[in-house]
Amino acid sequence: MSALNPDYTRILNFISRSCDLGIIQLKDESDTYDGRVLTINGKQVISFGNCSYLGLDTCESIKQGGIDAITRYGNFFSSSRQYMGLALNEELEGLLNQITGYYTLVTQTTSLGSLSAIPVITSPKDLIVLDHQVHASVQNATKIAQAQGTQVGMVRHSNMLALEDVIQKQQHKYEKIWYMADGMYSMLGDPCPIEAMYELMERYPNFHCFVDDAHGISWIGENGKGWTLHKRPLHPQMVLVMSMAKGFGCCGGILVFPSEETRHLVKCLGASLIYSGPIPTPVLGGCIASAKLHLTDEITERQNALYARIKFFREQAYAAGLPLVNHSFSPIFYFGAGSEENAYVVVRTMLDAGYFAGICNYPVVPKKHAGIRMSITTHNTFEDIENAVSAMAEIFDGLEREGKLDKDKIYHDFRALEVR
Ligand SMILES: Cc1ncc(COP(=O)(O)O)c(C=O)c1O
Repeated sequence: MSALNPDYTRILNFISRSCDLGIIQLKDESDTYDGRVLTINGKQVISFGNCSYLGLDTCESIKQGGIDAITRYGNFFSSSRQYMGLALNEELEGLLNQITGYYTLVTQTTSLGSLSAIPVITSPKDLIVLDHQVHASVQNATKIAQAQGTQVGMVRHSNMLALEDVIQKQQHKYEKIWYMADGMYSMLGDPCPIEAMYELMERYPNFHCFVDDAHGISWIGENGKGWTLHKRPLHPQMVLVMSMAKGFGCCGGILVFPSEETRHLVKCLGASLIYSGPIPTPVLGGCIASAKLHLTDEITERQNALYARIKFFREQAYAAGLPLVNHSFSPIFYFGAGSEENAYVVVRTMLDAGYFAGICNYPVVPKKHAGIRMSITTHNTFEDIENAVSAMAEIFDGLEREGKLDKDKIYHDFRALEVR
């Protein structure tokens, strides 16, 4: 085997250290799954790493949708949709059109959605500007566009002044300038500066945005249309990708286009729409059941239940003096750890106390952003939240007493994540 490149080496070091500590690549040994309690090495722990924010991962009607589909249509429809597919695909897209209000196209995963859309909607005459923190799946997809001749650059995370500077300097050299960002960033839980992005699209007719709102869908907005569409309607210079594998409670990706014409182009030319099989049949059935649920009042009830938990979590964390560094109202909470070493200690000690949380160290997050990511779902009880926050506060207080943690420095290092 060839020598690993330096990026892989860095990732491998992080993964190996975390594996040695027993805090990642864990196995849930439970016989059943309820979204809340996991059994790890024989011990029950409460999950604070589940992204099925509305608890739809265990929803009965969605499970039944999967069972019905497999019973009627078999395990898998083994053909590219380009030739032939189950009409369930179009049924799902019809429901997603109703939810979003635009032209949708489903893909096997969100990553494959970006991979299919980005090389088609961009051209060698365009410039792609990646946000420094945009999800790896978007960055990977731009590599194909780059191989086709499209220039790719990067700006600091959510820095709209730097982005406008690029637009002003480059707008006459390129046909289109694309900014690629997450709607709700998956690790640090901060939203993209959507208002500023809209303003730029209004002011510069050749400025476009590709937004990955994988984590924004379902838990916010009318019919769960997601964070980005809740904030603003889809701009004609914008394309969205969302996920059915997080708040939506199933699996798969959703591309959202402002016109049927662009959707048609990606349907005909998108890599995974041509070269890969469809969304597996039971998953399609589950997605249809979830989409139908999104069009009922149940979605609002679940959103309200989550909202109460988000509010409670925030209040508890602020009261405990924990260094919560993302102040947006989302089910993702990020605590700065001050150092990589502290992050390992906190996650390991939390696991010993019965709570699973996610370790985030470089290169998963930027160098000074080591920390702990906790996500909550409607499966978590208020008591779970109160107990987990108090366990976390005890660990942070201990580190502070030992002189290993300086909260002012943490807030300073994370100052870019202001409320938007
Ligand atoms: C922001 C974001 N985009 C894309 C993905 C990839 O999603 P999928 O597993 O559907 O490819 C993830 C996965 O966690 C994500 O957080």
